[in-house]
Amino acid sequence: MNDSDKSAVKDASKKSVGTVVLKLDGKEIELPLIVGSEGERAIDISELRTKTGCITYDNGYMNTGSCQSAITFLDGERGILRYRGIPIEQLAEQSTFVETSYLLIYGRLPNKKELEAFTTRVTRHTMLHEDMKNFYEGFPRDAHPMATLASAVSTLSTFYQNEPGRAVGGKELDLCIYRLLGKLPTIAAYSHKKSIGHPFVYPDNSLDYTANFLRMMFAVPTEPYELDPGVAKALDVLLLLHSDHEQNCSASTVRMVGSGRASLFASVSAAISALWGPLHGGANQEVIEMLQEIKDNGIAPKDYLAKVKNKEQGARLMGFGHRVYKNFDPRAKIIKKACDTVLNKLGVSDPLLDIAKQIEEAALKDDYFVSRKLYPNVDFYSGIIYRAVGIPTSMFTVMFAIGRLPGWIAQWKEMNESPSFKICRPRQIYTGQSETPYVPLGKRR
Ligand code: CMC
Repeated sequence: MNDSDKSAVKDASKKSVGTVVLKLDGKEIELPLIVGSEGERAIDISELRTKTGCITYDNGYMNTGSCQSAITFLDGERGILRYRGIPIEQLAEQSTFVETSYLLIYGRLPNKKELEAFTTRVTRHTMLHEDMKNFYEGFPRDAHPMATLASAVSTLSTFYQNEPGRAVGGKELDLCIYRLLGKLPTIAAYSHKKSIGHPFVYPDNSLDYTANFLRMMFAVPTEPYELDPGVAKALDVLLLLHSDHEQNCSASTVRMVGSGRASLFASVSAAISALWGPLHGGANQEVIEMLQEIKDNGIAPKDYLAKVKNKEQGARLMGFGHRVYKNFDPRAKIIKKACDTVLNKLGVSDPLLDIAKQIEEAALKDDYFVSRKLYPNVDFYSGIIYRAVGIPTSMFTVMFAIGRLPGWIAQWKEMNESPSFKICRPRQIYTGQSETPYVPLGKRR
């Protein structure tokens, strides 16, 4: 039995519902057709190369399923997003970020006792090792907080050297999970404090997850800090809405890095770097910068849209479009509503919100956007909420990272626990020179 046959046997979770016949070089090869629990179909090509010598080519993985996963279901055409089967709208309405984290990571909603135990454990790990404060000294004050965040998460491996990255499951992994969930908001808030030259504010474990984060961000030792519970709740919903999104760029990164049996901290650090890109999580920062540019230069929304449509200097309408959602992004719907609520509650009137609404209205009527199925995504309105709360623009993607953490953990854990675990190693179609002799330096032109 060759390697791919062995892995096909091990991957017992695959449900074959038929076969697909491929004709190549005058021969017919049968490939299994597999189906997921929501009826989505895939041609299983795990034996393709063995049987034909061919690989598949799929630029940007537009048609490639990289794994089987029971964590998140999304249907881009119908605008559906569910975590472990539960619609995102129900979770946003009734759950919390911490409870949803449990759901994603452990596969089901916790009962009361389990939720209390989980919350307590995460909360007990909010403090950073004192020596980690020195680590912040090494960064320039204007360091981008995403760079600091990725480095600090990677640094956790130096403080917790028995991290069970290579061992799978068990209490040691749980400890690692509590540490990451507990410490990420502290790490993030410290990067902000460092950037403005304020003293670090220690976590307060009497507060819930989001309230504690807000306090670490905005409290100063010289004054009492008053927390608005409505704002904390809105932020909690925002984090929850970002918690997972199946095999996106950063989730695929966490799986790719973790597939080399790299530790959870190392894999999450890599995912943070992947998220930073402006086409991924970095878009929320870009949206606000775009809206600000429009405002500062007095550009009419229709003129900005014309620039985008003419693809001037590669301009894109940031916060619009999605690889998977081709109808609407269910998260954006909830966020748009939350945006109005938070701004009303805080009594903030933000001219950027008015510009955003005008742009959205114009784009949704414009054939360029309609024909390409470009709609507002999760990032279009989230930045306006962050701004209203006082979170600086450079921290927006950090907020996304705090929200996405449970998803990364769940993806890493599921992959590591899968009986069909394999190191990820795509192939390529080589397009370089064929064999070329080495030319000694003196003989080169
Ligand atoms: N503004 C203007 N044109 C766009 C946009 C946009 N935001 N997005 C796609 N297009 C056009 C693109 O130019 C192309 O046009 P044409 O057919 O004339 O060449 C067509 O639509 C298809 O674009 P694509 O780049 O092939 O689509 P994709 O599925 O590879 O890209 C995307 C998805 C999210 C990278 C893209 O829509 C984009 O760059 N959006 C702006 C950045 C953004 O908001 N990213 C956040 C995504 S949501 C958060 C997350 O989950 O990461």
